Amino acid sequence: MKMYSPPDQDIVVVGASGDLAARKLLPALYNLEVEGLLPGTGLVIGYAESDWDDDAFRSHARESIAQFSRTGIADVPWQRFATRLRFINASAGWDVLRSRLEQRQRLVYLAVPPSAFATLVSALGAAGLAEGTSLVIEKPFGRDLATATQLNRDLHAVLAEERIFRIDHYLGKETVQNLLVFRFGNSVFERLWNRDAISQVEITVAESLGVEHRGAFYEETGAIRDIVQNHMFQLLSVAAMEPPISFDAEALRNEKVKVLRAAQPLDPKHTVRGQYAAGTIDGQKVAAYTDEPGVSRTSTTETYAAMRMFIDSWRWEGVPFLLRTGKRLCRRESVVVVSFNRAPLHLFHDTGIERLDSNRLVVRVQPDEGISLSFIAKQPGPALTTQPVEMDFSYGTSFKTSPPEAYERLLHDALLDDHTLFIREDEVERGWAIVDPVLTAPPPVVTYEAGSWGPVEAEAIAGPGHWHMAEEGT
Ligand code: BG6
Repeated sequence: MKMYSPPDQDIVVVGASGDLAARKLLPALYNLEVEGLLPGTGLVIGYAESDWDDDAFRSHARESIAQFSRTGIADVPWQRFATRLRFINASAGWDVLRSRLEQRQRLVYLAVPPSAFATLVSALGAAGLAEGTSLVIEKPFGRDLATATQLNRDLHAVLAEERIFRIDHYLGKETVQNLLVFRFGNSVFERLWNRDAISQVEITVAESLGVEHRGAFYEETGAIRDIVQNHMFQLLSVAAMEPPISFDAEALRNEKVKVLRAAQPLDPKHTVRGQYAAGTIDGQKVAAYTDEPGVSRTSTTETYAAMRMFIDSWRWEGVPFLLRTGKRLCRRESVVVVSFNRAPLHLFHDTGIERLDSNRLVVRVQPDEGISLSFIAKQPGPALTTQPVEMDFSYGTSFKTSPPEAYERLLHDALLDDHTLFIREDEVERGWAIVDPVLTAPPPVVTYEAGSWGPVEAEAIAGPGHWHMAEEGT
C-alpha cells in the first residue's frame, strides 16, 4: 500500500520568479498543502535572480496562487503554506542556499531554460549538495539524440539516474494514467488490444492556441521537438505497451521503452510538416505564424506535424499508428482513437447496407476527459438500417469532480521518490533516435489555414485509414 505522506524534506524552486513557477509550481505546491500532501516538515525555498526578500516572495506566491490555483486560495492553508516560504537571491549562490536548508533531503526543481541545466547541476555538485538532492527537470531534454546524450552525461556526472526526475506533464494527466487502468484493469479490452482486432491507432494532440509569447523559443523548437518526441511518444508508449509485471516504476518504464525500441524511426516520406497561415478560430481572426512576434517572416519551422508509424512487435506488426499535433487547429482536443476491424458484411448483404463502420474506442485526454466506445445499432423502425451509437464514460459525470492538475500529481510523486510517471534516460534517447531522421532531412513545410484540421497533405499519409475527426468534418 502506497504511503501518501512524503518524508521530511525541503523543496527548492530554482527560477522561482518565472512563468512556470507562477502558473504551475506554486499553485500545485499550495494545492498539495491543502490536501495535506506536502512533507510534514520542510521549507519551500524560492531561488532566482530577483531582488526579493522572503516577504516579497510570499506576496508573489499569494498572487500567483490566487490567479492560477484550481481551488482558488483560502486563508488557513495559505497561512500554513506561507510559513514554509523563503527566498534566496541567486547571486548569493548555492553556499548560501545550503546554509538555509533545514532538512537533510531536498527536492530541487529547475524551472529554468534547459540551456542552464548542466551549469546549475555542476554548481550544485560543487557546493556539496549532491548528497540528499533529488532533481526535477522539464522537457526539452536536448534537441536531438547527440545533445540529449550529452545532457544525460552532464547530469550523471553529479547525480545518479535514481535521483533524477524528468517531467513530461502528459504523464501526470489523469486520463493518461487511466488508460493504463482501462487496459490492464478490465479483461474485455486487453484481449482485443492487438493486430488481430485493431486496424489503426490514432493519436491527436490538437491545440487552438498559437505560439503566444513564445515565438523566439518556438522558432528553435517546432512541433516535432515540442510535442511529438515527448508528449505524443508518452501517449504512444502507454497505449501500445505490453502489460508490466507490476506497477513498480522500473517494470512499467521497461515496457514503455520496449515500445519505443520496437517503433520504426520516422520516415520523412510518411511525415508531413505544416505551418499555420492566417485564419479564423471561434470567430476571431488570427495571424499567420510568420507574423507572430519573434518569428522570422521566412520561417520554415513546423507548427504542425503528422506521421504514420509502425511498431515492429508481435502485437502490433502491420498496424499503422497515426500521430498528429498542431497549433492553431480548430479546437483544443487530445485523443487516442483505436479503430477495430470491421465486422464481415455478409449478414447484411440483402438489406442495402453497403458498409459497417468499425467499432471505435476514443480516449479523450482533454478537455472533457473520458472514454467512449462506438458500436453499430439498429435504427428503430421496420427496416433493417444501422447507425453507430456510443457508450460513454465522462469524468465529470462519473466522479463529479475535475481531475487534479498534472503538476500536483507529479510533484507529490517526486517527493515520495516514486519514478513511475517520470521519463528515464533511455526513453529520452530512444525518443530522439526515432525523430532524428526527420530532423536531419525534414520534409518541406506546407501551410494550413488557422482554424482548420491542418494541411490536406496529412490525409495522404493516413494510408487506407483516415483521421477520425477530419472524417466527421467537425
Ligand atoms: C508544452 C508545449 O510542453 O505542452 C506547449 O511546450 C504546449 O507548446 C503544451 O502548448 C500543451 O500542454 P497541454 O497540457 O495544454 O496539452
